[in-house]
Amino acid sequence: MKHSLVCLTLCEDTLQKNASLVEKYRRYIDIAELRVDFLSDEEQLHIRKFPTMIDIPCILTIRRQADGGRFVNSEISRTMLFGRALAFTDKTISKKFAYVDFENDYAVSSLQDAALAFDIKIIRSLHSMNEPVKNLKSAFNELRKTEYEIPKIAFMPKTMEDITNVFEEASSITEGEHILCAMGALGQITRILAPKLNSFLTYTSPIETNHLLPQLGHIDPVTLHEVYNFKNISEKTSIYGVAGWPLVKTASPELHNTGYKNHSLDCVFVPIRAPSVQEVFSFANKINVQGLAVTVPFKEDVISRIHSYDDDVEKIGACNTVWKRNGKWEGFNTDAYGFKRSLINFLGTEKLKKQKVAIVGAGGAAKAIAYVIKQMNGKACIFNRTIGKAKAIADMYNFDYASLGPESTKKLIHFSDIIIQTTSKGMNSTGKSTYENDPIFFYQFHGHEKVFDIIYTPETTPIMERAKEAGCEVCNGKEMLKYQGYKQFKIFTGKEYEV
Ligand code: ATR
Repeated sequence: MKHSLVCLTLCEDTLQKNASLVEKYRRYIDIAELRVDFLSDEEQLHIRKFPTMIDIPCILTIRRQADGGRFVNSEISRTMLFGRALAFTDKTISKKFAYVDFENDYAVSSLQDAALAFDIKIIRSLHSMNEPVKNLKSAFNELRKTEYEIPKIAFMPKTMEDITNVFEEASSITEGEHILCAMGALGQITRILAPKLNSFLTYTSPIETNHLLPQLGHIDPVTLHEVYNFKNISEKTSIYGVAGWPLVKTASPELHNTGYKNHSLDCVFVPIRAPSVQEVFSFANKINVQGLAVTVPFKEDVISRIHSYDDDVEKIGACNTVWKRNGKWEGFNTDAYGFKRSLINFLGTEKLKKQKVAIVGAGGAAKAIAYVIKQMNGKACIFNRTIGKAKAIADMYNFDYASLGPESTKKLIHFSDIIIQTTSKGMNSTGKSTYENDPIFFYQFHGHEKVFDIIYTPETTPIMERAKEAGCEVCNGKEMLKYQGYKQFKIFTGKEYEV
């Protein structure tokens, strides 16, 4: 079986802009798809010349609105457009479209004959926007009207189970070519792991136009190569991933995949976006995922799903790493290790004796942090919006606790030697500090505080910016993420990340 090709979907409004994108991404792509439905009316008149403007094979696609595209004119005008692009074409490979995408219900025999006559391969596509397609093997066979066609199924998954089923079914379809992909955020994993689906190609979008097709969950070709090492993914590649929801952004794939590359390991690490732990494990077990980084909101729920766990998980009550050994899931907490190493670097000491520490937030991350502060002999107060959760952690370590608001200002001043921010407030927020992006907006920094925010995007959160302006030393969560990832890598591969 040939390796899946990387296709760049072109959605600019002019042919020239699209050709420039092909030029820009040339080293990362094998094939392009011209989406005629995104071109301006004037440009649509000249589509026949597009293959001569680029030096790679091109798919001609005119997608109707009902199938997720933008073409709203009549079927007659769509047929005329196809005709303009395909008829009287030059037989020279580089001067004609190499493929044309006809939907399953599109049956204009003169155009199909023209495609065959000019050796233009037909991609016979089925877009299921509302439900997944069952029995893929027979669905592909039904779609394929002649042996020269490549059947394509693109569907909108409703649940992670739909994605799991697709991987289960498609991995055994090894005869003939087919294209398979799931749309939306849930489906992104099918684009990254297209070789595991034996898909003829995977669709990518240029960074410039990715925002035009957010519903498709596209990925850009540079990320596909540089982060996921796409060309090396095969049926033998071991799968690891980070499980979370909604998991909008994650730095873990970059970290782990770089490690695999540096150690020449045949592994890939992907985001596994699933709304429940149950769906994560169903996917992981059926697709033979070897290990998972576990993130918000599963760090606590995951514990009931695993067979055993280490001391840190037991004491902290949160688990951010699971690994499969002899068919059984083992749990670890590497957040505590990552945080401790980063905090020691930040403070320049391992001892917190006499230091008063404020821990802002009482979620899974705060649990690991409180555990470390206790290990380092610090005295802490947990401040949280939901006070019961602050009390629960405080009780474990004989710490103080308080609500998270102006009423706790005095207490915060008392515990202000080191302030550790663990809530999600400030994540992806670059503006000035407000009550919406700064959980201790009510507190005035004096300059002596050491402020550690476990967020790593942006690099400087609004609370950090405010603390810096007052003369405080600040640290973000980048190093913590790095170190917890290094330990995860060691658990997964048995190898040291840092060489
Ligand atoms: P993690 O595993 O990253 O710690 P989590 O367990 O979901 O994630 O915990 C999120 C923390 O951020 C909690 O302390 C939460 O406060 P509640 O316990 O009251 O839910 C806190 N948090 C999230 N959004 C917040 C907001 N808008 N204001 C204040 N605290 C917030």
